[in-house]
Amino acid sequence: MFPPVKIVTGALLIREFAPQDAAQVTAFVTAGDRTALPPGAPASAADVNPWLTSTVHQRRMDGDGVHLAIVREHTGEIVGSIGLRDADLAAGRAEIGYGIHATRRGQGFATEAARAVARWALTEGGLRRIALHARLDNPASIRVAEKAGYRREGTLRQADWDGRTAHDLAAFSMITTDLPDLGVTR
Ligand SMILES: CC(C)(COP(=O)(O)OP(=O)(O)OC[C@H]1O[C@@H](n2cnc3c(N)ncnc32)[C@H](O)[C@@H]1OP(=O)(O)O)[C@@H](O)C(=O)NCCC(=O)NCCS
Repeated sequence: MFPPVKIVTGALLIREFAPQDAAQVTAFVTAGDRTALPPGAPASAADVNPWLTSTVHQRRMDGDGVHLAIVREHTGEIVGSIGLRDADLAAGRAEIGYGIHATRRGQGFATEAARAVARWALTEGGLRRIALHARLDNPASIRVAEKAGYRREGTLRQADWDGRTAHDLAAFSMITTDLPDLGVTR
């Protein structure tokens, strides 16, 4: 299992989704606006409470990954989500993914969160390697990876399948020996 996550960085609080988020998450789901929600978030308002009280935590307890809310600390507003998936705790690796609400982009939130969660994962989270994959036609995400301090490893040709078309992925990673470059001492 992963330990509980509470990261305060800049203006952001990054923590697991929790029952206190019911009103905001229900509003997103009801509006059909999923841009601040993680993959696997509920599709209907009736499923929000079980997801917040159980499913989200179970994922962390099982060591599969974490679903985290990116919250503006001074207002409590959920501006996006970030998470770890495909975790292999024995091997010490996981993949990071993120999304910022469409109205809150361009303010550095994804970069701050991607950097902070990698630091957490490579220290308190006990991991050794965080992979980050971004489609080549997603320059904003590639820019986030670069700005957050991930290292480009290459291109995974036609590795992403959207149901109709295959897309190349830019492959990035951060490993524990990169941490000193981010000013982190272990
Ligand atoms: C990718 C995403 C998370 C970025 O969130 P964000 O909070 O706006 O990111 P930041 O503000 O930290 O940084 C965005 C950077 O991308 C740049 N950018 C944005 N759109 C761009 C474009 N079309 N071309 C080139 N650069 C672009 C911004 O200028 C900024 O870089 P800068 O600071 O050097 O100017 C957001 O666009 C999003 O949620 N997209 C949909 C979900 C998604 O693609 N997730 C990633 C899956 S791998």
